[in-house]
Amino acid sequence: MALLAVALVALFSVSAAFQQHDAATSRYVRNSYFVEVDASSSSLSKRGLTPFAALSRTLAAVERKGIKYTVRQRFESLPDVFHGASIQVPDGVSLDELSKIDGVKRVWPVQKIYLPREPAVDDYVSTSSMASQRLAKRTSSSFEKRATTFPPASAYAGDTFYPHVETGIDGLHNSGILGAGVKIAVLDSGVDYTNPILGGCFGPGCHISFGYDFCGDNYNGDNTPVPDDDPFTTCTSHGTHVTGIIGALANQYGVSGVAPQATLGHYRITGCNEIASDDIMVAAMMRALHDGVDVINVSLGSVVSWTNNSPTQIMAEYLASQGVAVVASAGNDRTEGLFFAEGPAAGLATTAVGATDPIYWVAYNATLRNRGTVPYMSPMPFNITRTSLLYFTSTDPNVASDACTALPSSTPSLVNRVVVVRRGGCDFAVKLNNLAKAGAKIVLIYNSPNTLTLPQFNVGTTGLEAVGGLRYEDGVRLLDLFKSTPRGQPITFPFGPLVSGVVDGVTGGTASYYSSYGPTNDLNLYPSITAPGTNILSTVVGGLGIMRGTSQSSPLVAGAYALILSQRKNENLSPQQLKSLFMTTSAPIPNTYGSSTLDSVISQGAGRIDVGAALAAKTLITPAVLELNDTGFPSRTQRLTLSNRNSDAVTYTFSSTIAQGMATYDNGVQSDVIPSTSPDDIDTPLFRISYSDNSVTVPAGGSASVTVVFTALRYSNQQTAEFPIYSGFIDVRGTSASAQVQAFTVPFFGLASRMIDMPVLDTTGAALGPNLPFLAVGQDIATAPITVSRSNAPTVFFRLAAGTRRLRVDLVAGDIDFQGTIPSVTNPTSRLAKRSKNDLRPRATPALFNDVPTVGSIFAPDYYPPRDYLVNGPYPYSDYEYTLDGKYTNKDGTPGTASAGVSYRVLIRALKITADPSLSSSYESWLSTPFQYSS
Ligand SMILES: *[C@@H]1O[C@H](CO)[C@@H](O)[C@H](O)[C@H]1NC(C)=O
Ligand SMILES: *[C@@H]1O[C@H](CO)[C@@H](O)[C@H](O)[C@H]1NC(C)=O
Ligand SMILES: *[C@@H]1O[C@H](CO)[C@@H](O)[C@H](O)[C@H]1NC(C)=O
Ligand SMILES: *[C@@H]1O[C@H](CO)[C@@H](O)[C@H](O)[C@H]1NC(C)=O
Repeated sequence: MALLAVALVALFSVSAAFQQHDAATSRYVRNSYFVEVDASSSSLSKRGLTPFAALSRTLAAVERKGIKYTVRQRFESLPDVFHGASIQVPDGVSLDELSKIDGVKRVWPVQKIYLPREPAVDDYVSTSSMASQRLAKRTSSSFEKRATTFPPASAYAGDTFYPHVETGIDGLHNSGILGAGVKIAVLDSGVDYTNPILGGCFGPGCHISFGYDFCGDNYNGDNTPVPDDDPFTTCTSHGTHVTGIIGALANQYGVSGVAPQATLGHYRITGCNEIASDDIMVAAMMRALHDGVDVINVSLGSVVSWTNNSPTQIMAEYLASQGVAVVASAGNDRTEGLFFAEGPAAGLATTAVGATDPIYWVAYNATLRNRGTVPYMSPMPFNITRTSLLYFTSTDPNVASDACTALPSSTPSLVNRVVVVRRGGCDFAVKLNNLAKAGAKIVLIYNSPNTLTLPQFNVGTTGLEAVGGLRYEDGVRLLDLFKSTPRGQPITFPFGPLVSGVVDGVTGGTASYYSSYGPTNDLNLYPSITAPGTNILSTVVGGLGIMRGTSQSSPLVAGAYALILSQRKNENLSPQQLKSLFMTTSAPIPNTYGSSTLDSVISQGAGRIDVGAALAAKTLITPAVLELNDTGFPSRTQRLTLSNRNSDAVTYTFSSTIAQGMATYDNGVQSDVIPSTSPDDIDTPLFRISYSDNSVTVPAGGSASVTVVFTALRYSNQQTAEFPIYSGFIDVRGTSASAQVQAFTVPFFGLASRMIDMPVLDTTGAALGPNLPFLAVGQDIATAPITVSRSNAPTVFFRLAAGTRRLRVDLVAGDIDFQGTIPSVTNPTSRLAKRSKNDLRPRATPALFNDVPTVGSIFAPDYYPPRDYLVNGPYPYSDYEYTLDGKYTNKDGTPGTASAGVSYRVLIRALKITADPSLSSSYESWLSTPFQYSS
């Protein structure tokens, strides 16, 4: 029964207007697609083609369709891995159209990649765009320098740099292991190599000895990249900071890189605004392979949800298979909740690095006359030797809003004072401006009690001479001195190196508040490991600066890989083995400061790296993580293989430690469709772990396996509904005749629920106000059949609450026999939905997915779409919005146009995770109310 000439126009206006997003332009490069061409040797020989010819043929076919494209990047050097091009097409050419073209294997939209943004600190407003202090002014000769003067290895001995001390890198530096002979490439925003700490020049003979700029300053993701041979930049410090973490040369400040003797290169993949695109990333990865790089550190920030599916993930896995270790940051998206894996970090061979807050603070000593010293945080020592007296704007350490308003007129002259104020009550910039207006020159801000570590401060345009941070306890100590010294407590800030051992007693050594959670939807571990990422001091444009993020932890691990590779060269460790070595020797961290409970492995991965242990370890354990999957596909019997590369037999014993459990949803999937943005800790359910052998003795050079069985997993219905991830560590202790004890840990985790039950389509109103999905014309949501003109066409709105392996948006006949899993009308209430006749009539949905009749397709990606953003996306919720102008793609790839006066609906189907794609019942689905075009 076709709904002919429906005159009734039933639209429901939502009271709170929702905002239409230009969804595609922020996540994807406008009209740009990766077109992968079938270039497998078998298919080529069948067709008698070379890979080169296969690509030109396909591009010619694109042209024959009348599609005027421009090529962005060509990928032709690895025909068996990824062959094709990224192209930009005119408006209106759909992904579906391209994927049907002869010779095309797969099509992905080109994604924009945002460098992981420095995570925000609530009360931090940068007062200057330059988050750094400058080194002595550059002389022009440093620009012209053609070779770097390298400090001797001895300059790195006695390493007290805090991120190195807590990861055991100091020990390697003290024995002269500095990464010599290993080639590392950094993919980032460009580098200021004129900074003397990075060698002062570029090219052979220089510290940064190779590289390329793939995009130029003005590249913003959408426009045409302008490549050149020089990765130099001064418009952003990101790439300079990460380069210093790997390669900073020894200097008087006490900062150094992890692998300062490695051969360092830089591929610039973003313009000044730090936006890249994944086609440029793939091009840079191919170039790294060509340049013979051993380790690459990749900067990426796009959600993928799945293991090994995006072009960058495919490339990363290939590089690993070719012996290139790929280290990537896990992302700064903790507030997106669980299951937020990013690409290419989420790969079986890629190392995804999360961040911890360092155990120790970045600090220099100020001198208190007759009272010792006090550590203050600053990227460089103030180097102010004139004596000032301490002054507090409030003598109450519990004051809520210290200096948040103009200082009273009774305030003494502050010119020769060091003014100390407490954090809290307003933005730092407000305090600093109030203090500057009252005549202050030097300011120290002390932390509020039990609060996250302070950020770096900048004097910016305040007119202040210097501003630094203090721990709470040090602020209180100074306050006591201030109160007990009526004649004034003198303080100076002499030049001196970084102070070691100043403990951060609030969050030191725990996972950082921004470090993304895993796992992937495939229930693979994510992140792999962690390293210090908060308050990291390194090089910036023209100087030194403090930054935080997984961008800071990932290069630390890339450098650490280089150290081990340089020292254990003759073992020919594969990237997988290297990753396993680091994972099984890293140190599990607590869930909160001082706690005896271990953090969940989907927060900390295998733990914080311990490079000393990785150097010493002569046992290789595989797998490096036991992935127990979900209760639908449990793999509770696992096998650990131990390869003993020691020179004598080792006896291994096994035990386990349970870590924090974590819930994906706040109340449970019945009431929460969207993952929690501040996931709860939950009690870890009881279960038993047993081993096939209590101990295993493995001869030198031999290997043996032990079976680990996880039993008696019990959860309440409520726990199951919250999608709990339980986790822990198998502790493996090895003892040999020579009596050394070697300790290893192998993380394990599983989901005490079923991935198939994870809601995929968002049915809430959280993103836009009205409940999703819906069909709307302007601000009016359709609640019954409508007639529309093509120029005022309806838009369908939907979101993915979870990733899916198969998403289909089709145009279907208005009288289709199909029962959606989600009612067609859910706005304003489900009561209205019940009134809709079309939903009341029971419908028989064909059992097989392919038997559901469609008119044509509107969106049918053949990659696995990730879940949408909740917090940090462009709006911040990302969503899908398709305007139904009547165009669709037929099964054979030809374009189709909807007829006037014929009733249609839109059908959205999203495959439930782990479900069988061939069955209709495996999909969440939504069928819109009917609509027809008036002409
Ligand atoms: C390492 O990768 C992270 C992201 O994956 C990036 O933010 C950082 O800039 C990179 N560092 C280097 C040295 O390439
Ligand atoms: C510290 O200040 C003194 C005196 O102004 C100056 O001579 C010295 O060069 C400064 N040191 C550094 C490393 O900037
Ligand atoms: C800083 O002061 C502490 C305490 O007085 C002292 O132990 C330490 O050696 C000093 N560090 C430096 C680098 O001056
Ligand atoms: C868990 O099971 C699903 C369904 O069989 C599978 O696709 C996935 O790869 C498994 N994950 C792991 C880590 O084994």
